[in-house]
Amino acid sequence: MRVLVTGGAGFIGANFVHQTVAERPDAEVTVLDALTYAGNRSSLDPVADRIRFVHGDITDAALVDELVGNSDLVVHFAAESHNDNSLSNPWPFVQTNIVGTVTLLEAVRKHDVRYHHISTDEVYGDLELDDPERFTESTAYNPSSPYSSTKASSDMLVRAWTRSFGVRATLSNCSNNYGPYQHVEKFIPRQVTNVLAGLRPRLYGDGLNVRDWIHVDDHNSAVWAIVDGGRIGQTYLIGADGEVDNRTVMETILEVLGQRPDAFDFVTDRPGHDMRYAIDSTMLREELGWAPRYRDFRSGLEATVGWYRENEQWWRPQKDATERAYLAAGEKTT
Ligand code: NAD
Ligand code: DAU
Repeated sequence: MRVLVTGGAGFIGANFVHQTVAERPDAEVTVLDALTYAGNRSSLDPVADRIRFVHGDITDAALVDELVGNSDLVVHFAAESHNDNSLSNPWPFVQTNIVGTVTLLEAVRKHDVRYHHISTDEVYGDLELDDPERFTESTAYNPSSPYSSTKASSDMLVRAWTRSFGVRATLSNCSNNYGPYQHVEKFIPRQVTNVLAGLRPRLYGDGLNVRDWIHVDDHNSAVWAIVDGGRIGQTYLIGADGEVDNRTVMETILEVLGQRPDAFDFVTDRPGHDMRYAIDSTMLREELGWAPRYRDFRSGLEATVGWYRENEQWWRPQKDATERAYLAAGEKTT
């Protein structure tokens, strides 16, 4: 099977390519990635001789048409993915997440290629801390940020292309991922690398916000379960029952790294900061028999901290610019 993976030099995409090469010997993988600030070619070094890498943009219709025409399956990870960046400049989010998705949809429509769309639980907005309900496939869309609203737009486009043009697509909306190769702008790698670099970790607001953590390998095994057995046109929610508040995550990271639990700074909150995400993944589990392998967040986090300790050459080049960008955006201790 010829698999085109967009965004394969990013965090989840690179881990998807590693997993695919290891577990699917019949897959011929081509990665299409623009190598934005978030893309890192070296994340694919462990599989470099097993894949084809194309440096290009998903909004380049001629390139996308050629690559899709030579594929049996497209798994679309490429996106502008960071909420904070979308608050500073939403335009790349509109271009990549919306225009890029239409470009891919037009190509899979023309060539009748199977398509899987990677999306986020953030399309559903947020929950109160004490809300007994979690997100399901029928929760109404209510995105909060420029990032999540462009992802919601992309989901709607996929649904429209499926219904109107018969595109053979499935969608998945996953909760917060953690694991190796995640950019140091994101919460867990930022705090881990701050400690390793001798900087104070930074907690937004009061730290009560809750995220539903899932290991990136579990996200990717769910994607394959959906590609293999999911119903065309169906959305599946991916989650591993991993709700933890940010302060607890911070204190766990500090403990794992041998620091005092209060060795961090509170900083200005993110505008419009979603309070809580929580996924009910019953449909995925019951219909497709998927289950997460990483059930203990702490041990998954310890392994992730270990990866950042051992791979400073991977994250160090991004670190200073990332911290400068946070300062330039006005982040201050409170
Ligand atoms: P990331 O920012 O780490 O990687 C994105 C990749 O896309 C990078 O390699 C980048 O170079 C590439 N890219 C960006 N614009 C491009 C363009 N125009 N053309 C080609 N390539 C381009 O993102 P991630 O965290 O790996 O997220 C991957 C996908 O998963 C996204 O669609 C995101 O919305 C979704 N998602 C992420 C999470 C999470 O916790 N990180 C959770 C649920 C869903
Ligand atoms: O829910 C899925 C989403 O998870 C994905 O769609 C996004 O692509 C991904 O970036 C992630 O979004 P979040 O905004 O939840 O992730 P982030 O790592 O930016 O922040 C996680 C939480 O930690 C959030 O409540 C904000 C907080 N935070 C973040 C940073 C960077 C801090 O307290 N301090 C920080 O320095």
